[in-house]
Amino acid sequence: MAGDGEVEAPKGLVCVTGAGGYVASYLVKSLLEAGYRVRGTVRNPDSEPKTRHLRELPGAKERLELVSADLLSEGSFDAAVEGCDGVFHTASPVVFPKIDPFVEMVEPAIKGTLNVLKSCSKANVKRVVLTSSSSAFRMRPDYSADVPLDESSWSSVQFCKDIKLWYALAKTMAEQAAWDYSKETGLNLVSVLPTYIIGSIIPPELSATSTDVLGLFTGKAGNFAKFGRMGYVHIDDVATAHILAYEKPEAEGRYIVSGITLDNDEMAEMLAKRYPTLDVPKIEKGAGMPYYNINVSKLAKLGLEKYKPIEEAFDDVVESYKQKGML
Ligand SMILES: NC(=O)c1ccc[n+]([C@@H]2O[C@H](COP(=O)([O-])OP(=O)(O)OC[C@H]3O[C@@H](n4cnc5c(N)ncnc54)[C@H](OP(=O)(O)O)[C@@H]3O)[C@@H](O)[C@H]2O)c1
Repeated sequence: MAGDGEVEAPKGLVCVTGAGGYVASYLVKSLLEAGYRVRGTVRNPDSEPKTRHLRELPGAKERLELVSADLLSEGSFDAAVEGCDGVFHTASPVVFPKIDPFVEMVEPAIKGTLNVLKSCSKANVKRVVLTSSSSAFRMRPDYSADVPLDESSWSSVQFCKDIKLWYALAKTMAEQAAWDYSKETGLNLVSVLPTYIIGSIIPPELSATSTDVLGLFTGKAGNFAKFGRMGYVHIDDVATAHILAYEKPEAEGRYIVSGITLDNDEMAEMLAKRYPTLDVPKIEKGAGMPYYNINVSKLAKLGLEKYKPIEEAFDDVVESYKQKGML
C-alpha cells in the first residue's frame, strides 16, 4: 500500500523549467498528483523562499528533485533534462523590463528556449511541451472580428515592436525560434498558449501577473485598463492542457487554452458584483485590442472539453491573497 506522497507505480521522469514560478509550481503540483517523478529547475535550489513551496507539495518528498539552471547560460539545462522522458519549458522573463527590453526580456526568452531545446536534443527527450502565451497569437492589427482566432494566428513581430509590446514580442519570437529548431532537428515539440491565467497562488511571492490581479481587488486597474478584451483561464485547466499535450501521442503543433473571453469592463463588473466588500476598480471599455473571440476546439479534441468557471478561478485567487494577508 502506498503512503501519502507515494504512488503504486510512478510514471516517468519529467523536467519543469522555472519550477518555482506561479504557473510552473502549479504544474509541478499537478504532475506529482498525476504520479510523475519531477525534476524542477530553479535558479537557486538552495534558496529557502524560492523552493519551500515546492518541497512542501504532496509527493515532493518522494518524487521531486530540484536542480539549478539558468536560461542565459549555455548547456545549463544539460544535466537537468538528462534521463527525462519529457520536458515542460515554462521559464521565461515575465517581469516588465527596466532599462533594455531586448536584453532583459526578448533575448533571454529566445536564447533560453533554444538552450533548453538543445539540451533536450542531446538527452533524446521524447517530447518538449513549451509554455507559450496568447500574446503569441493575438497581437496583430489585421484580424477580422467575425473569425475567432485559432492556432493558425501569430502575433505580428513588427506590430509588437511598433507599439513596444516587449512581452508579446519575446513570447512570439521564442515560440517561432522553437518551431524553427524543431523543424530543423526533428525534436518533438508541442506548444501550449494560455490566455490570462487566474487561480491559486502557490509561491510565497507574487509574480508580475499575480501583482496585476491583486490590483483588481485593491482599486487599481493597472494593466487591465490597457489590455481591453482578454481571454481568461483557470490555472487548473492550464496544467491539464500541458499534461494532455505531453501525454497524448496524437498531440501536434500549438494548443490554445482559454476558458472565456471578456471585455475589460465586463470583467470588472462581474468582479464588483461577486466581491462587493473588495475595492474592485471601474474599468472603461474600449482600451486595448478590438473585439475578437478565441476558438479552442483543437484542445477540446485532445480532451479538454469543459473548462472550470472563471468565477471559481477568481474565488481561488482571492482566497490566496487572503491567506497571504494581502486582502
Ligand atoms: N501568468 C499568466 O497569465 C501567463 C499566461 C500565459 C503564459 N504564461 C507563461 O507562463 C510561464 C510562467 O509565467 P508565470 O506567470 O508563472 O511567471 P513567473 O512566476 O514570473 O515565472 C517565470 C519563471 O521563469 C523563471 N526565469 C525567468 N528568467 C529566468 C532565467 N534567466 N533563468 C531561469 N529561469 C528564469 C523564473 O525564475 P525565478 O523564480 O528564479 O525568478 C520563474 O520561475 C511563462 O513562460 C509565461 O510567459 C503566463
